[in-house]
Amino acid sequence: MKNILITGGAGFIGSHVVRLFVKKYPEYSIINLDALTYAGNLANLKDVESQPNYTFVKADICDFETICQVFEKYDINGVIHLAAESHVDRSIKEPFTFARTNVLGTLSLLQAAKHYWGGKMEDKRFYHISTDEVYGALALDKPEGAAPYGSDFFRESTKYAPHSPYSASKASSDHFVRAFHDTYGLPVIVTNCSNNYGPYQFPEKLIPLFINNICTGKPLPVYGKGENVRDWLYVEDHARAIDLIFHQGKVGETYNIGGFNEWKNIDIVKVLIRTVDRLLGRPEGASDHLITYVTDRAGHDLRYAIDSTKLKQELGWEPSLQFEEGIEKTVRWYLDNRDWMENITSGDYERYYEDMYKNKTSFYTT
Ligand code: NAD
Ligand code: TYD
Repeated sequence: MKNILITGGAGFIGSHVVRLFVKKYPEYSIINLDALTYAGNLANLKDVESQPNYTFVKADICDFETICQVFEKYDINGVIHLAAESHVDRSIKEPFTFARTNVLGTLSLLQAAKHYWGGKMEDKRFYHISTDEVYGALALDKPEGAAPYGSDFFRESTKYAPHSPYSASKASSDHFVRAFHDTYGLPVIVTNCSNNYGPYQFPEKLIPLFINNICTGKPLPVYGKGENVRDWLYVEDHARAIDLIFHQGKVGETYNIGGFNEWKNIDIVKVLIRTVDRLLGRPEGASDHLITYVTDRAGHDLRYAIDSTKLKQELGWEPSLQFEEGIEKTVRWYLDNRDWMENITSGDYERYYEDMYKNKTSFYTT
């Protein structure tokens, strides 16, 4: 019997991981711990919420006492840690929130695991989910033609060089996780993944925001010239990688996860416009006029591209979906689940978020 604590399970990637584990491992007990910030949404887990092997706990990962109680009560022997503040633009506006959740929250979980597991670490695992953004930005030295758009890639050996408050906070958390391995022997694994897309992503991120705006005829704010490059992975492929690495990855190791799937932002925007318009029966190019170039994001990383050769060679993982197929699936999902989107963008959700955060932000302002 495994009792697995998944943090951030009500968010985008976390909900896919929870769903996969609850369905695939009926013999495990899956405890989803989430503070339900603006990004956490229990509607993401409707199809598994009544499963006997699933428990939801509403808690803040920074609340060390509660985290210790959760370890004790559910006899936790594995952690998959996804809870985080995850949006770069928000991190530019409110960096303290990012340091609190991503750094102190991770530290709180590490301390609780060390405390509760004591000297008995053999069958335990603390799996920390991180991002490729900790590596900084790559050059765009082959901007013409087809991807790859540069000759360099992020490898597990690439030096950390974060630029945004978000990536700096994730880098810091990664360092704490490794320090707990080296100092206390905590059985940790870290993975750094590229940009994810798919169902249930909060519509502040490029793909769901733009799908929604194309549907509703709102402007599409492309930062700068739209030439920044991201390496996109379908979220269920990430969840499959997490499952594999949690079970078969080597303790103390880092694995990069990515799809060798680089796209310039402006090219993605064009694919989204074509796909949404086609599925809505609009004439081709009907939404092209929505593209609006806006002031660039401060410190905007030029290019991300992951080399996931290690994961392929050591554990045999490869992405299963081609990008075109993944985008088609994703757009269809958002079109078929308008209620989900409307609940978030209607204001109720935002108001809830404001209320939740009234107390939390006072932590910094006092
Ligand atoms: P998300 O913003 O959609 O979800 C984050 C979840 O964490 C939400 O459910 C939120 O309620 C919860 N949370 C936030 N603060 C919390 C706190 N203090 N205590 C408990 N729960 C809290 O994020 P996501 O896109 O699903 O990302 C999940 C993880 O994967 C993050 O660690 C992120 O850094 C990492 N990651 C994301 C991507 C991506 O493209 N989205 C890529 C690589 C890595
Ligand atoms: P995002 O989805 O925020 O992910 P990240 O910043 O973590 O890569 O953004 C993806 C890319 O799209 C990034 O280069 C910024 C750009 N972008 C826009 O051009 N306009 C937008 O409104 C958003 C949200 C992002």
